[in-house]
Amino acid sequence: PEKCVVAVDGPSGSGKSTVSRRLAAAIDGVYLDTGAMYRAVTWAVLQAGADLSDPEAIAKIALETELSIGTDPSAPHFAANGVPVDGPIRGPEVTAAVSAVAAVPAVRRQLVALQRAIIAGQPRIVVEGRDIASVVAPDADLKVYLTASAAARAARRSAEDATDVAATEASLVRRDKLDSSRAADPLRQASDALEVDTTGLGIDEVVAYLLKLLDSRV
Ligand code: C5P
Repeated sequence: PEKCVVAVDGPSGSGKSTVSRRLAAAIDGVYLDTGAMYRAVTWAVLQAGADLSDPEAIAKIALETELSIGTDPSAPHFAANGVPVDGPIRGPEVTAAVSAVAAVPAVRRQLVALQRAIIAGQPRIVVEGRDIASVVAPDADLKVYLTASAAARAARRSAEDATDVAATEASLVRRDKLDSSRAADPLRQASDALEVDTTGLGIDEVVAYLLKLLDSRV
């Protein structure tokens, strides 16, 4: 397609990142990892030693943080205040704190505005997150909600980062609960998003299926 926006939402570990990157490469487009944006801000909040129960302090740091957002599907590098953060934003400290930071409405307003500006400047883009179809890009050409059983999601994550499966599953379930229960833009399936359960599917199958769908729509 000449122009298209694809929204990929879903809980942690549902395969969103791998699928989104592969899909972006296949349509010769860019990839926007909005979770990495929340993680980079969280890194800056932790770095500043802010109190995670103080939304105003969190919002202030978020506003002061200069993000560099990589959108190359093969190497989406991020930096915060000039510091490369690709490693630390995947670490346990950021992962444990990110849902609290992402629940602050002022942080969401700031990052959603940034996300919309990036989307507007790109002919073809795959955007992954929690609220892309519902809030960030309700006019997306294709809206996908990826799911998988908690066990399958934990198995994938722990294979990626060599952590214990049970601990990973507990951490995923905790984060999903926080993300779905927050007041501001909670994780939910948009009414017009297509649910794809990836539990028994391989990446290739999912990507091929989405490409076919996209072909029939744009
Ligand atoms: O996708 P990822 O696991 O990297 O997202 C990290 C966290 O960022 C999520 O658990 C959620 O709290 C937050 N997030 C969000 N809205 C998005 C993307 C991520 O609130 N669009």
